[in-house]
Order: sequence, then C-alpha cells, then structure tokens
Amino acid sequence: MRNIRLLICSLIYPLMPPLAVAAALAMSSMAPAADAPPGASSCSGCHPASAGVATPVPRLNGRDAAQITTAMTEFRTGKRPATVMDRIAKGFSDDETKAIAAYFAALKE
Ligand code: HEC
Repeated sequence: MRNIRLLICSLIYPLMPPLAVAAALAMSSMAPAADAPPGASSCSGCHPASAGVATPVPRLNGRDAAQITTAMTEFRTGKRPATVMDRIAKGFSDDETKAIAAYFAALKE
C-alpha cells in the first residue's frame, strides 16, 4: 500500500509545476479586463455588457460616470427606491463607487 502511494506521488510531483502554470494561465485569461477596479465584475452579473441581452436591468457600459455615482449615492442613502441596489450600494465607499463608475463610463456602449 505504502509503495503504491509512493509510486503515485513520484509520478504526480514532477507534473506539478506545469500544472500550476497552466492553471494560472487559465485563470488570467478568464479574468475580466485587467483595469477593472474591485467590485466592478460583480455589477456585470446583473447589468449586461452586451446590448443584445434582453433584461430590465439597464446597461452600465458607456454611461456617464457622474450619473452612475449619483445613482449609487441615492441608492445608498435611500433617496432612490430600489429592490436590490440599495443593499449593493451600501457595500462600496465613495472612492470605490467612483472607480467603478469611471470604469463603466470608459467601456464602449
Ligand atoms: C443582483 C443584481 C444587481 C447587481 C449585482 C448590481 N445591480 Fe445595479 N441594478 C439592479 C437593479 C434590479 C436595478 C434597478 C433598481 C433596483 O430595483 O434596485 C439596478 C439599477 C442600477 C443603477 C441605476 C440605473 C438607472 O438607469 O436607473 C445603477 C447606476 C446601478 N444599478 C449600478 C450598479 C453597480 C455600479 C453595480 C456593481 C457595484 C451594480 N449596479 C450591481 C441590479 C443589480
């Protein structure tokens, strides 16, 4: 039994470095645009990147940054009624919200 385990280990260990490199490469190619600030990728789960997606949730790409920031502030303070955005907006500071807004504003429509 012990010998079998040793044999399996000695077969697998030499494969580890290439496997780790392959996993890292796969992960980096799955990541969103490199300049996406923290939290921005969570928005696109509901707000579609593609204009072809039929959803009542408005797209954020190419929108005015100030408009996004104002909406987020109003959601956070309760000034603007919401079903989910009030809770989501509370998770981001002013600076984080501005960075996310600038990121979406810079994306193509
Ligand atoms: C769980 C789904 C969901 C996620 C995640 C989400 N949103 Fe929203 N968003 C909505 C919905 C639904 C509305 C409509 C208002 C409401 O009912 O809360 C909305 C509305 C908005 C609006 C107002 C748009 C308009 O034209 O009125 C902005 C701006 C916005 N979201 C920004 C964001 C940002 C920035 C993030 C990421 C930090 C985000 N949303 C994440 C679902 C989501």
